[in-house]
Amino acid sequence: MDFELKTLDLAGAAGEKCDALVMLVGENFKPGKDALSRLAGEALKARDLDPKAGKLLQAYRSAGIAAPRVVLAGCADGSPKKVHAAVAAAVGALRTSGAKRLVICLPADAKEDAVRAAVSATAESSYVYVATKSKPEGRELQRVTIAVADASRLQVAFAGARAAANGIEFARELGNLPPNHATPTRLGEEAKKLAKAHGLKCEVLGPREVAKIGMGSFMAVAKGSEEPLRFIVLKYTGAGAGDAPVVLVGKGITFDSGGISIKPSADMDEMKFDMGGAASVLGTFRAIGEIKPAINVIGLIPSCENMPDGRSVKPGDIVKSLSGQTIEILNTDAEGRLILCDALTYAERFKPRAVVDIATLTGACVIALGGVRSGLFASDDALAQALHDAGERAMDPCWRMPLDDEYAEGLKSNFADVANVAGRAGGAVNAAKFLQRFAGAYPWAHLDIAGTAWKSGGAKGSTGRPVGMLVQFLLDQQGAARPAKAAKRPAKRK
Ligand code: BES
Ligand code: MN
Ligand code: ZN
Repeated sequence: MDFELKTLDLAGAAGEKCDALVMLVGENFKPGKDALSRLAGEALKARDLDPKAGKLLQAYRSAGIAAPRVVLAGCADGSPKKVHAAVAAAVGALRTSGAKRLVICLPADAKEDAVRAAVSATAESSYVYVATKSKPEGRELQRVTIAVADASRLQVAFAGARAAANGIEFARELGNLPPNHATPTRLGEEAKKLAKAHGLKCEVLGPREVAKIGMGSFMAVAKGSEEPLRFIVLKYTGAGAGDAPVVLVGKGITFDSGGISIKPSADMDEMKFDMGGAASVLGTFRAIGEIKPAINVIGLIPSCENMPDGRSVKPGDIVKSLSGQTIEILNTDAEGRLILCDALTYAERFKPRAVVDIATLTGACVIALGGVRSGLFASDDALAQALHDAGERAMDPCWRMPLDDEYAEGLKSNFADVANVAGRAGGAVNAAKFLQRFAGAYPWAHLDIAGTAWKSGGAKGSTGRPVGMLVQFLLDQQGAARPAKAAKRPAKRK
């Protein structure tokens, strides 16, 4: 979909040729003399329009308005949350209208965060999955104009939001693909394609290279599958070579059957979404490839299937991780941590300023936080704060969870350095404590997105989370202190 930002007052918007026009009306709306103001003003007076967020009033062929369909949408106090709700409701209501061209008028006092909310809500509620349908129905919307009082002032925020929306959509599309399409090989190909289109560097390693490096833990998970594993390395260079990168690590299990510790059949199809972390890394690279911020970012994606087979890893097997630590695999369904630990060790070679792993890691995190906030674990308070704040601003929130050493007690093994599971209690924290053993060389954070990466039930589908949070976090990193470089920079003259 094509987004554009345009300076338009309500009189201008009324004259704009399009298939549908959405006008956001807040509690403090002051009507002018134009046709849209008249419509909204009269509807408010008659109480046919409620300025509460998400309340709608639709009109057809109104006098003096070029758009045949007009949707008035209440946005209450005009906060980003309310703008998001209003736009989502309005775009949702227009879904079946077949409108190709849409204009969305924001309140006259709309700031950067309102523009971001409008773009993300539009993209989110107009997305339609068609990749494996025989007829691509429902993807009519082509062009969306966001109308504001002064476009030049909001252009940077708008461009960032548009790129983030593209990244989120890419992550959703990959997440939604069936597991016979979105194989590790396909993820590698998508990464290569992405790199080519956006000037990124990309390397895709296969079983032989990964064996040579010594990723014994990752290899153990892949053993039961006919699909060859892939280890994807993406590089975005937006700052100097001496600038320590942020490393993003995404869990790329393209199907998690549980392996020999096989899962129950009910809802097992949803384990195609177990590559949501990988999809979010690819989506984030798609966005930063477009924005081109002044930072360096590395993406690491260990990807394979977790399948039962005569060659599968078994409960009780002990493997040697890249770090040298031996791991007793007591439950083959705790496979995410087994592929991530080797990627976390691999990350050390980039001397990163921070490493963030993103994984659909535990059912326990779904129980703890549901689908609203992702679980955030961090060994570094500043990193935790930065991710938390980025999540709030991007409306893709997370919540910090503890990492007390007592939680690691259950990971003790009589036969290896560590076991891959502890008891059920505190399962999301136990998993994070396992990962932490491999992430000691740098500031580290872990996002458990098991509850937020996809929705179940009638709305079953990938959400593209936490691409919004990660893009915002990386943009914020541009301003952050960069010791390596700052030391060489001459002092500023006052
Ligand atoms: N991919 C799952 C986590 C998951 C389960 C996400 C359900 C969303 C919904 C992960 O690989 C897994 O199976 N984790 C186990 C760990 C357990 C064996 C310690 C879990 O959460 O049950
Ligand atoms: Mn599993
Ligand atoms: Zn899994």
